[in-house]
Amino acid sequence: MTTKAYITFSNNSLVENDPPLKEFIQNHQEKFITLLLDGNVYAIIKEKDCAYEEVRNMAGSIARELSGRKIPSVILEGAVLENGFSKLDKGRAVCAFIEGWELGSYQFLTYKSDKKSFKTSLELIDCEDVQSSIKEGEARAKAVSFSRDLMNEIPSALNPETYPAVLEKEFKNTEAKVQIVRGKQLEERQMNGVLAVCRGSKYEPAFVEISYCRDKTKPHVVLVGKGVTFDTGGISLKRGADISDMKMDMGGSAAVAGAMKLIVEMKANVNVTALIPIVENMPDSQSFLPSEVIHYKNGLTVQVGNTDAEGRLILADGLIRAGELKADYIVDIATLTGAIGNALGSKIAGVFGDEELADEMKKIGRENGDYVWPMPLVDAYDAYLNSDYADLCNISSKGEAGSITAGLFLRRFVPKSSKWLHIDMAGVMASNRASGYYPKAATGFGARLLADFTTHISK
Ligand code: BES
Ligand code: MG
Ligand code: ZN
Repeated sequence: MTTKAYITFSNNSLVENDPPLKEFIQNHQEKFITLLLDGNVYAIIKEKDCAYEEVRNMAGSIARELSGRKIPSVILEGAVLENGFSKLDKGRAVCAFIEGWELGSYQFLTYKSDKKSFKTSLELIDCEDVQSSIKEGEARAKAVSFSRDLMNEIPSALNPETYPAVLEKEFKNTEAKVQIVRGKQLEERQMNGVLAVCRGSKYEPAFVEISYCRDKTKPHVVLVGKGVTFDTGGISLKRGADISDMKMDMGGSAAVAGAMKLIVEMKANVNVTALIPIVENMPDSQSFLPSEVIHYKNGLTVQVGNTDAEGRLILADGLIRAGELKADYIVDIATLTGAIGNALGSKIAGVFGDEELADEMKKIGRENGDYVWPMPLVDAYDAYLNSDYADLCNISSKGEAGSITAGLFLRRFVPKSSKWLHIDMAGVMASNRASGYYPKAATGFGARLLADFTTHISK
């Protein structure tokens, strides 16, 4: 007979054998929930603050811990969640718990010689009434894991020539349609930002469109994701520290692809198109050079002041394309500036653009764990992008407010008839240690945010 492990929550009695903990709880007026596992106190949560993100984090750390200890399975009763998190909705708590559980046990083992992963399985009982929430939690975790997989992959495996096929395969036999634009077609479409940035690479650039429409009457939401499979900086080469993380400079595209996966899986009643420009930014004799001028399809000319400000150059092609597709809403997302990490740190991304919409985005992120905070697009800084000989330059003439000037650059390419948001996720693309439902490395940020935003705006 095997012993079964249970996850239980308790308010007090079971901390009797832990005097310091008991004293701590007694000294506080708030109600505490303690999580016990085989009689050991595992986590304490102040119920007052208890939100779905704490459920996800708690589930994630338990899953990682138990998987590490090679515990085959653990039982969680619906009533335990219901009583432990009495202020939360049972279905949503179950969804959050599963999501956190799956994401906490996520591993990227492709390049480990020992690829065997161990994952403790979670047995839910008394959850018949929340089956759809279980499914949703699984779908959310799968979508985020897909984004993580793309971001963690290395550029010899995931590059402008292989990435489109990965997307095509992912959406094969689904309601989403994938179109790959490359070579001559890119030239015909005058995607000159994409062509310029990838010129030094041994790989041909691509522009991928993924469309999903369940309801033509819904507003057309266009998601644009930066897909730089590796950013060396190009001729304006990055130097110094290890730049391995620049394999994740396609994090925006991973967010967009993950969001599409979640939307497709949930059969969301929306009308959405993902636009993904894919390039590699490399120095080479063929590379685009500082001082060069890029002529965009909308008539704007851009002086390349710095080849390391490449993200905005390829997003510009995406924004112009969104206009051709008559987008009602455009959300672009990118690992765009190091400066956003200085401003907001590694747990919150910046959101720029339509201020009311940005507030809605902030609320959505607060619920689903993809945190964003509104940032200002100050007109006064727009002139910093002036060029002596082109319509504008891709870098600011001042060394301040780098994330804002990047946003202002993008604004010049936004079609007038669309509502627009820009998300700078450079600070949040990777976690530097395992914590809660985040393992070390790629976070998979943005998949949930964009999917939930699209669903919300289509209500
Ligand atoms: N991909 C980088 C931004 C980045 C930095 C992402 C750190 C993740 C972590 C982007 O292409 C870049 O190089 N931006 C420059 C812009 C500058 C040249 C105006 C930057 O932030 O330094
Ligand atoms: Mg760069
Ligand atoms: Zn970049």
